[in-house]
Amino acid sequence: MALYSDKVMDHFYNPRNVGIIENADGVGEVGNAKCGDIMKMYLKIDNDIITDVKFETFGCASAIASSSMATELIKGKPVSEALELTNKAVAEALDGLPAHKMHCSVLAEEAIQSAIEDYQSKK
Ligand code: FES
Repeated sequence: MALYSDKVMDHFYNPRNVGIIENADGVGEVGNAKCGDIMKMYLKIDNDIITDVKFETFGCASAIASSSMATELIKGKPVSEALELTNKAVAEALDGLPAHKMHCSVLAEEAIQSAIEDYQSKK
């Protein structure tokens, strides 16, 4: 069996929502001290709805696929719903990640939470 699902490969080779948002309403940056990978998430929020989201990830294939999928999962959603997005849900949406790569999806959950905290602290 292939190590990565077709969805992981697709989101790695064609990541959605890569980039930055100027004047974002919330920005979150998190890292994994062990592998040194970094993920930055930018949110545009209107009336508590995430109208746009972009990311920059300096990391492994799983981290890039996780960020890409996570942005798709929260775009157009209320902030409260995005806050509840778990790394498990991101991995499931990617049709799974190898067990030793699950921590990469945690970065996506944490980056979103960190960006939302930033947004809430500015309100
Ligand atoms: Fe670092 Fe995947 S190995 S996030």
